[in-house]
Amino acid sequence: MAGSKLLSVAPMMDVTDVQFRHLARLLSRHTWLYTEMVVDQTIRHNPVTDRFLWYPPEQHPIACQLGGSNPSTLREAAQIVAQYGYDEVNLNCGCPSDRVAGAGCFGAALMLQPEAVANCMAALREATDVAVTVKCRLGVDQADSYEELCNFIKIVSEGSDVRHFIIHARKCLLKGLSPHQNRTIPPLRYGWIHALIRDFPDLEFSLNGGVKTCEDVRSILDYRSPEGRGVRSVMVGRAAYDNPWNMLGKADTMIFGAESNPAANRRQVMRSLHDVHGT
Ligand SMILES: Cc1cc2nc3c(=O)[nH]c(=O)nc-3n(C[C@H](O)[C@H](O)[C@H](O)COP(=O)(O)O)c2cc1C
Repeated sequence: MAGSKLLSVAPMMDVTDVQFRHLARLLSRHTWLYTEMVVDQTIRHNPVTDRFLWYPPEQHPIACQLGGSNPSTLREAAQIVAQYGYDEVNLNCGCPSDRVAGAGCFGAALMLQPEAVANCMAALREATDVAVTVKCRLGVDQADSYEELCNFIKIVSEGSDVRHFIIHARKCLLKGLSPHQNRTIPPLRYGWIHALIRDFPDLEFSLNGGVKTCEDVRSILDYRSPEGRGVRSVMVGRAAYDNPWNMLGKADTMIFGAESNPAANRRQVMRSLHDVHGT
């Protein structure tokens, strides 16, 4: 189903820049791409926003991920983002890094303040016509029960237009674990995402975390609950840059039902990259 959002490459700082996305697009025409997180203040204070926000048109479908926690600065940043024609604006509520989480309240720390997230998302909605989505964890620190996750989803969805949550299916600890450990040590709980799908039938959920192969993506997408519902899409992070060819090279046919994949072999991809970057 070309055009559907079934698979995406996760926002990754220092990875999913415009060049990496160029490679991803050579491998898959249909996979959604995300920018690195762009902090709202960076956009507001920088006279040359092209440096963070420009992309070539073939990178559609593409989402811009914002970082921030102040509705009015997020609104201003999203007004600038809107001029670039992104297909979705996403708010980072899952990043545990000290660099981010320590600078005021944003990233995963926002999960502790669902009302504030609802206000941020309402502000983003005012600035853009495209879908506004939240990327979050299962929980943060001691706020890690399924009930607390439901409370977060309920407050954010009732207080804003958010209908789609992308969930990294593990909790995070703001202190004591490095960002890398926060992506490996807390256990993955895919079952919680299926429980959310059951408990919030009007919302959509995408699953992120630990997905390694295109075959895994296919089986997660195919899984149906007893009510006949499943995830909206799968988001892959590390597997897409550890092994872009295996993860994305056959995604168009395996995931999107396209007749062919854009790249016949790795050499062809290398040649295309050389044509763009070579001297
Ligand atoms: C190098 C790196 C940078 C990341 N930067 C971001 C980011 O900017 N925003 C975000 O929401 N998540 C970020 N993440 C988390 C990923 O988006 C994703 O949620 C996480 O890696 C789990 O997915 P995976 O197991 O498929 O890698 C980053 C992850 C990595 C490895």
